[in-house]
Amino acid sequence: MNSSMTVNENMHTEILKVDASSIHFEQPGAASSHLTISDPTTEKNLRRAAKILQETTQTVAFPTETVYGLGASALDDATSRAIYTVKNRPADNPLIVHVSGLDQLRRVLHTELPRVYEPLVKQFWPGPLTVVLPAPVDAATGRKIVSPVCTHGQATVAVRMPAHPVARALIALSDLPLAAPSANASTRPSPTTAQHVYADLHGRLPLILDGGACDVGVESTVVDGTVSPPRLLRPGGISLEQIRAAGGPAWANVVVGKANAGKDEIVRTPGMKYKHYSPRAPVVLFNNCGNGVSAVSKYLQSYSSSATSDSNDKIKIALLPTHQFDITKLETEIKTAGFVVITKSLGKTGAEISHNLFSALREMDEDKGCDLILVEGIDETNEGLAVMNRLTKAASTVIMS
Ligand code: TXA
Ligand code: MG
Repeated sequence: MNSSMTVNENMHTEILKVDASSIHFEQPGAASSHLTISDPTTEKNLRRAAKILQETTQTVAFPTETVYGLGASALDDATSRAIYTVKNRPADNPLIVHVSGLDQLRRVLHTELPRVYEPLVKQFWPGPLTVVLPAPVDAATGRKIVSPVCTHGQATVAVRMPAHPVARALIALSDLPLAAPSANASTRPSPTTAQHVYADLHGRLPLILDGGACDVGVESTVVDGTVSPPRLLRPGGISLEQIRAAGGPAWANVVVGKANAGKDEIVRTPGMKYKHYSPRAPVVLFNNCGNGVSAVSKYLQSYSSSATSDSNDKIKIALLPTHQFDITKLETEIKTAGFVVITKSLGKTGAEISHNLFSALREMDEDKGCDLILVEGIDETNEGLAVMNRLTKAASTVIMS
């Protein structure tokens, strides 16, 4: 479990286009025999990616409906280890295993889903829901089937069936359950385009399948129904409200896990204790601050006094409003304080804000070169819980009204 293993940083990284609309499965959850790909280039590129996954210990990046994933076989220690190395991920943060369906779960992982998940999986698979189950064991040898590198030796494994046709076709063609974290460098915002993956990881992997921008924009929801009461470990693409509505009595009292944990605290989702989703520019999150004018101008006063005066005219501030910020007044305020302002609305609906969140943070940070990013928070209902979970982690300062 050596995530500091050296990686060849000079590898040529290809970005190959794939057309999701050319991929068809006869039945949802079906194996590769039920897969047809009408576009020859898409088929060629998918087969190339599958070959890398089957024959080497290298990783391949691919689109899912949530964010881009960095995939490799979950069955093997060396391939699982390669994922940690490529994205410089701490070895104690386990990976999600992606399957093409219940059929692959039975045939390759030799396990069934615990019954508690039936109503959720019926409704949300394929889709952005990850479930935690006991790590499957080979009855003959007593060995764990999923690599202990992938699970960090935990007694459980997290599994999801993605909805994106490219992800499912890649799993089906390689016939491998794919361990796949988000394909960003550790600590950075998750990638929602092939270009985001390239910016973080080029030179460290041979291939990125480019299927365009991800629909959902935040990662899957992780739930654990093997404990009582069941827990929501990470909010994501399926909301708490949706889980309560679809899950029946077993999920009516689902408990929301802690959003942040101390560095040495043992948490059920180990990923929660690390710095996450952070652009290089500091992010300031404004929570419940109405039209934002008084909170932002107060913040700018303290920011101005800490910034050196002769460089003020070059400081670029990104403004990412959602519902209530008064954009005209705020832009005037920021300019009057002597800064350049670049505004980009995150959207109005929860779905729009989720979709735009990581790409807007990356655009302001990497493309526009902003020095500071001011973001308007939203309330934590529906998609808001996942959005605020990501923003709270990305932010170096949170300002409450
Ligand atoms: O949408 C997604 O889930 C994306 C795409 C690529 O599918 N993947 C993703 O993976 O977000 P990653 O590695 O960035 O996040 C996995 C999360 C982490 O918070 C990790 O701690 C948690 O799932 N996790 C993994 N295995 C677990 C387990 N056995 N028990 C509890 N939490 C687990
Ligand atoms: Mg991640």
